[in-house]
Amino acid sequence: MIQLSNVTKSYEVAQETFDVLSEIDLVIAKGEYVSIMGPSGSGKSTLMNIIGCLDRPTSGQYQFLGKELSTAKDQELAAIRNQSIGFVFQQFHLLPRLNAKRNVELPMIYSGMNQTERKERAEIALEKVGLADRMNHMPNELSGGQKQRVAIARAIVNHPQLILADEPTGALDSKTSSSIMEQFTQLNEEGTTVVLVTHEEEIAACTNRMVIVRDGRLVEDRLTQGGALNETR
Ligand SMILES: Nc1ncnc2c1ncn2[C@@H]1O[C@H](COP(=O)(O)OP(=O)(O)O)[C@@H](O)[C@H]1O
Ligand SMILES: [Mg+2]
Repeated sequence: MIQLSNVTKSYEVAQETFDVLSEIDLVIAKGEYVSIMGPSGSGKSTLMNIIGCLDRPTSGQYQFLGKELSTAKDQELAAIRNQSIGFVFQQFHLLPRLNAKRNVELPMIYSGMNQTERKERAEIALEKVGLADRMNHMPNELSGGQKQRVAIARAIVNHPQLILADEPTGALDSKTSSSIMEQFTQLNEEGTTVVLVTHEEEIAACTNRMVIVRDGRLVEDRLTQGGALNETR
C-alpha cells in the first residue's frame, strides 16, 4: 500500500541545506497497524506528511496504492487525500464554529456528497466513536477525548483505506489516551490500515509494528511484543 524508496526531504535555512529525512526505505502493507516513533524533531511529522500526500519528497520515490506520487500534481494529491486517507492530529483541528456533526460532514462536502447522505453518514460515524449523545455539541462543549473522537469520526466518514494520526494522544491524559488507542485498534481490526506517530513507547506498544526514526533516519523496524505479524504483509 505504502512504499518509500530512498526518500530524502531537505530544507534550505539561511542558505544551508538540512536533511530532515535521509534515505528512508519503508513498506507498509494493507491492513497493518504501525507506529512511527522517535524523539521530538526526529522527522516523524515530515515523514507522515509525505505518506499522507500533504508534502512531497525532495528526492526518492513514493508509491501509494501502486501510484508513483513523488512528482504528482497538487490536485492529484488532494484527490487521493480526500478519497483514501483520514487524518487525526494532536490538536484535533476541529472548526470551532461548527458542531460535532457539521465538523464530521466536512470531508463529504469536499467530496460533493448530497446533504441527506452526509447527515446520515456523519451520524453513523459519531455513533461508532461513542458520541451519539454529543452530535449537536460545539467543540468548546466537549472534553479533549470527545474532541478527538469527533476528529476520528471525521477521519473515517469517507471510509478511507488509510488512517494517519500524528500524536493523537499527545494532548490527552493517560486514561483517555488508552480509550482513543482502543478506537484505533478497533478500526484496524475492521481492516483499515492505521499509521500513527508518537514519541511515547506505551502508545507505540498498542500497535503491531514499531518503526523508529532518529535524526531523520529509520533506525529500527520491529514487531511489538503483543503484535502479530499481519498475514497480508
Ligand atoms: N518547513 C520547514 N523548514 C525547515 N525546517 C523544518 C521544516 N519543517 C520541519 N523542519 C525541521 O525538521 C525537523 C523534523 O521536524 P518534524 O518532522 O516536525 O519532527 P517531529 O515530528 O519528529 O517532532 C526539525 O528539526 C524541524 O525544525
Ligand atoms: Mg511532529
